[in-house]
Amino acid sequence: MSIQWFPGHMTRARRQIQEQLKLIDAVIELVDARLPLSSRNPMIDEILQGKPRLIVLNKADLADGEVTKEWLDYFKKQGQVAFPVDASTGTGIKEIPTQLKLLLKAKIDKQISKGINPRAIRALIVGIPNVGKSTLINRLAGRSVALTGDRPGVTKGQQWIKVGKEMELLDTPGILWPKFEDMNVGYRLAVTGAIKAEILNVEDVAFFGLKYITKYYWGPFKERFDLQSEQPTGSNEPDEIVEIMEEIGRKRGCIVSGGRVDLEKACGLILRELRAGKLGRFSMEAPY
Ligand code: G4P
Repeated sequence: MSIQWFPGHMTRARRQIQEQLKLIDAVIELVDARLPLSSRNPMIDEILQGKPRLIVLNKADLADGEVTKEWLDYFKKQGQVAFPVDASTGTGIKEIPTQLKLLLKAKIDKQISKGINPRAIRALIVGIPNVGKSTLINRLAGRSVALTGDRPGVTKGQQWIKVGKEMELLDTPGILWPKFEDMNVGYRLAVTGAIKAEILNVEDVAFFGLKYITKYYWGPFKERFDLQSEQPTGSNEPDEIVEIMEEIGRKRGCIVSGGRVDLEKACGLILRELRAGKLGRFSMEAPY
């Protein structure tokens, strides 16, 4: 697969997080609610070395609410604390300090029983690029924070960002890489915009997205583009999906000389509308 992180970056990112772990009480792992597994680092458990962790399903405003509920159930069954947020508006983020306190309750109670006044909980936000780490930090801080070294492997002097009286965040989020070995993971990430579609191939990415969307979200999709085409099914599905791309291209004026549909342009348009939530809320993977 052509998308790769230079292995040296991975090693540095991992080392940086492991240095940061020494400073904090708990980790806030950010994943994309539309694809909670594909937007996760494959080595996360090993990297976090048992640090208490919250899993925050961000961009929940863009995900299918029913599928998000299934994901919450999935994580719960794995004994992990997970909940949805929308960092762009702040919906759900109040849960973060509350859940952190619950997560660390035993430790906090122990300090209190020894007569120690517990200090603010120190946390680190980690996640793959574009999952919303900076947006969440700014929301939690209630202001625009100039993040230091917001690139893998760049560590400058770290600052603590106060979130109310009970929580402090490291201002440099931990940047992790997604799982690249699985082609489907790459496509899901490209459909949702976590990685640039151009890194793969815009038409292939749109095809992958439409295969899923036309199967599970046909109603809103058909409506949005006012399609005459039927829902793709059976052995003819690939051709039918291409016909849908062409119908959209014609409707939206993606035409090259000779009246042919500019498929690449049409696919780019479909992907942009999908990512912006204009085709309604959707998820790209379900747990069951
Ligand atoms: P990162 O630090 O993890 O790399 O991600 P960042 O916060 O930069 O967010 C990546 C993109 O995702 C941004 O959009 C941001 O606005 C958007 N985003 C973050 N959280 C949410 C959310 O909960 N819901 C929705 N709908 N969007 C979210 P962008 O187009 O790259 O930039 P912008 O112009 O919107 O800021």
